[in-house]
Amino acid sequence: MPPPQHRITEQVVSSFSDAPPRLREVMSALVEHLHRFVVDVRLTPEEWREAIGLLTATGHITTEERQEFILWSDALGVSMLVDALEHELPPGATESTVLGPFFVPGSPLREYGANIASQRAGDPAWVFGRVLTTEGDPIAGAELDVWQNGDNELYAVQDPGAPDDHLRARFTTRDDGTYGFVGVRPVPYRIPSDGPVGRMLAATGRHPWRPAHIHLIVRAPGYRTLTTHIFDSTSDHLDADAVFAVKPSLLREFVRRTPDDPEAPPGTAGDWYSIENDLVLVAGTSEEPVGDGRTA
Ligand code: BEZ
Ligand code: FE
Repeated sequence: MPPPQHRITEQVVSSFSDAPPRLREVMSALVEHLHRFVVDVRLTPEEWREAIGLLTATGHITTEERQEFILWSDALGVSMLVDALEHELPPGATESTVLGPFFVPGSPLREYGANIASQRAGDPAWVFGRVLTTEGDPIAGAELDVWQNGDNELYAVQDPGAPDDHLRARFTTRDDGTYGFVGVRPVPYRIPSDGPVGRMLAATGRHPWRPAHIHLIVRAPGYRTLTTHIFDSTSDHLDADAVFAVKPSLLREFVRRTPDDPEAPPGTAGDWYSIENDLVLVAGTSEEPVGDGRTA
């Protein structure tokens, strides 16, 4: 006789026999893995109640502006796993990484070279490069959607003291595929840790820090949309990102420059940084990221 837990698993799996094939596959595997997990760790009723409480709190704290379920997915590495399965890339293509919860669609379109900081937010950073095909040809008219935090650690969407369009903008590449904008040097910051995910981090002795980075989404007709970061190659926490999103190919040097440098962005009084970053797109199509933390 198989153990009773085996019969329970079989009964639940066979309850899906009339479901459409993909749904049956996903639900059956989910139940098999979930039951196996419960048996393996010998989950106690008290632990089960604790888990239900955590899921309930996750629902309660989730709003239009805050997606705690996706934060779970990020903090448990699921977002990056889904991203890895979706994005098997040809050599030379720029790698993708997590979208995060602070993307807000509809940033203002700005001209080549514009400054995206509406108010002082740190040392200026000239970010420039080309958008290219995997054959190395320039892609004209590609759209770059960029957003980043300032030296107070906050994105505009989190910061009541910042205008909505602070440190975010869209740019279009020129005929030779080039783009350029003035941002600021980003700083490491903590993922939201005042909810259930934060409780998990604290209880397991994990920290909430992400290394300094700038977010980009690159879109061009005929190419797969790329959601990625530029990571500061000297940032703290590169080896222990709270959401496991660092890929070595995305690290860039923030080159320190002086205010008397003839290439200094207009109005720069102190040291500034330049970051060169080409972006290589793969031919194809993809769905638009939806601003709720999913990768694209
Ligand atoms: C971010 O990079 O903005 C982010 C990504 C995942 C979780 C929290 C924040
Ligand atoms: Fe971020």
